[in-house]
This record gives sequence, structure tokens and C-alpha cells, in this order.
Amino acid sequence: MSMQMPTAPLPRGSLMTKSYSKDQIEAEALRLREAIRQVGLWDLETCRTIAPLTLEINELKSQNDVFLIAHSYQTPDIVYGVADSVSDSYTLSKAARDAPQQTILFSSVRFMAETAKIVSPHKTVLHPSPEAGCTLADSITAEDVRELKSKYPGVPVACYINTSAEVKAEVDVCVTSSNYLRICERLPGDRLIFVPDRLMGKHLTEYLAGRKEVINYDGECYVHATFTGEKIRSWRERTAAQGIDLKVLSHPECDADVIAESDVVGSSEALMDEAIRLGEEGSPDIMLITECGTADRIRAETETELNLIGTCVMCRYMKMTQLEDILQALRDPRPEQIIELNADVIERASRSLDEMFRLAE
Ligand code: 13P
Ligand code: SF4
Repeated sequence: MSMQMPTAPLPRGSLMTKSYSKDQIEAEALRLREAIRQVGLWDLETCRTIAPLTLEINELKSQNDVFLIAHSYQTPDIVYGVADSVSDSYTLSKAARDAPQQTILFSSVRFMAETAKIVSPHKTVLHPSPEAGCTLADSITAEDVRELKSKYPGVPVACYINTSAEVKAEVDVCVTSSNYLRICERLPGDRLIFVPDRLMGKHLTEYLAGRKEVINYDGECYVHATFTGEKIRSWRERTAAQGIDLKVLSHPECDADVIAESDVVGSSEALMDEAIRLGEEGSPDIMLITECGTADRIRAETETELNLIGTCVMCRYMKMTQLEDILQALRDPRPEQIIELNADVIERASRSLDEMFRLAE
């Protein structure tokens, strides 16, 4: 990763916004409340407070031809107030690559903004929160991968997309939560190195048992590592006693015993789609084993009344970006908010991402 001087997010209310008429604010507040669909937390008064920010962000985006991408775990004011594209990391890397706009603002953690730069090096990629890391991406360096490669010469190396550009530059292929099983099983030979997620690696090891040996690393997502199979079993027992047919949906960054207890395993976007589908088909009792942003999106995107059971966990890195940071980065980005990567790193990392696109489609 290039050297950055991390700066703290702007305190709320510290940025002077443009002034808008009462009618403009009211119309924007109504639009926001309607789109976010969580009247308890995002009532009209709250929406009025953020309306000047979303109005100016949307104005600057169209004036400067900026494509604003937000990961599903960003807060609803960003997702439904200003984003042009919202999804999981696989879909968003394609959205960044294919966007005709020459400037992309990526509201998410750092590795996703770096990925956008790798797949579209000629574009300007803005990342409003340089301090937003990820425990998986921060668990491994390029040097660690080089050591593994020299220990296991000739063994293909797959890395989860939650890694720095420098790590991607060292591996044969990248994978995401949408395609790690399919891609890893298609790699040549009977062994592979999988970095850095030990929990996803455990699941992959079980999936490939008898076909391929998986050499794992020891990173983990601190959010998804908190969930246990035991918790799910106890919720299943409690809900079954009340006659509830609980559907458990989990993200593949969870431990293998969580995955074994789950009805559906998938990316942030796949879990949202599946929860909505289950609700529409008459299974409204759903336990989501993932970050809280997925539940926010489900609430916003379905008319069906769902009973979301259990507690989600919030990713502190994903929640670092605020509308103020986005507005400030659009008005006058600080150097650390513009993604700059070494040309050689981009060239080598783009090969592992291209290989992912090839094997995933
Ligand atoms: P998705 O690709 O499923 O959105 O996952 C990214 C991530 O960081 C999950 O913690
Ligand atoms: Fe990283 Fe986990 Fe946060 Fe996703 S949820 S960005 S994997 S720390």
C-alpha cells in the first residue's frame, strides 16, 4: 500500500454546506425518507438535516461527471442518498471498470477503491476515508505472499479481494465472496494457496476435500469471526419452539460451523436478494449472519414485512465514511483521498483481477 497519512473523518456538522431553499430541502428530505424506508431512525427531521449534503453531492457529481460507488455496508444516507451503484465487491469492481465517467468516488474501505484503480488505471479514483482499512486486507503483506510462494513453489495462489494492491500483484487470481468456490476448484493442480481469510479458507478446504489440498493463511474479518454455529443452533431451537421456520443466511467470511448451520451462504448482495425472495415466497423469519448494512438494504428494498431475527455486527471501517467526507472529497480532495498506485503494481494486480473475471463468468 502506498504511504498515506490517515486523517480522522470530519466531525458531523463541521462542513459549511451550500444554502438551499426551504422547498428544495423539503423535497430532498421527502425523497430521502422514502428511499431509506426506516422511519424510526431516518425520520423527516433527520432527512432535512442531511438534505443540503445530498443535494450538493448530487450536484457536484453531475457537474464533474463523477460515478459514485458505495458498498452495501455503507450507511443508508450514502446508499440511498447519493450512490449511483451499490452492491457487493465483485459487482462493484465491474461497475468501476465499466463506468464511462472518468472520475469514480468509491465510498467504502480502502481495498475496494484500490481495486477500482487497478481495473481502470486511467480514471481518477477518489476515496473519501483513507483511514478505512479492513482486518483481512491488513493481515497480509506482499512479502508474506512471496514467502509462501517460495515455500510452495509452483502452487497456484488465490487471494480474496479483501487485500492490498501489492498483495494482488503477487498472486495468480483474485476471488470474491460470489465466486471463491468456483474459481478455486478451476485452478490447475491438486494444491492451492489461499490467502488471507482463514475462515473462508476452512470452508474452501472442506468443499475441496478429496480433490485439492488448500494451504491457508491466518487472517480473519473481525465482524464475521464473531458469529458461531452454537448461536445459530440455539436460535433455531428457540424459534422452532414457537413454530417459526427460521431461515439462516450467512456470509462466507464466517466460520465453517456457521456455514454448516446456514440455509443460504452468499455475498452481501446475494444475501439481500435471497432474503427478499424468501419474504416474498412466504418465509419472513430470517436470521442474517453478517454486517448490519445488509439488513438496512433489505428494509429499504422490499415491501414485504420481514421478521429479521438476531443481531447484526457493524464494521467500524465500513461506517467511517460520512456524507461530509464525500462532499469534501468531491469539492477539493486531499492528496491521500486520491488513489495512487505504482504502475508496475497496477499492471501485475490487474492480471489477477482479469483472471478472476475470466474464471468467474
Ligand atoms: P461482499 O463482496 O460480499 O460485499 O463482501 C465484502 C466484505 O468486505 C464483506 O465483509
Ligand atoms: Fe473487512 Fe470485515 Fe469490515 Fe468487510 S466487514 S471490510 S471483511 S473488516
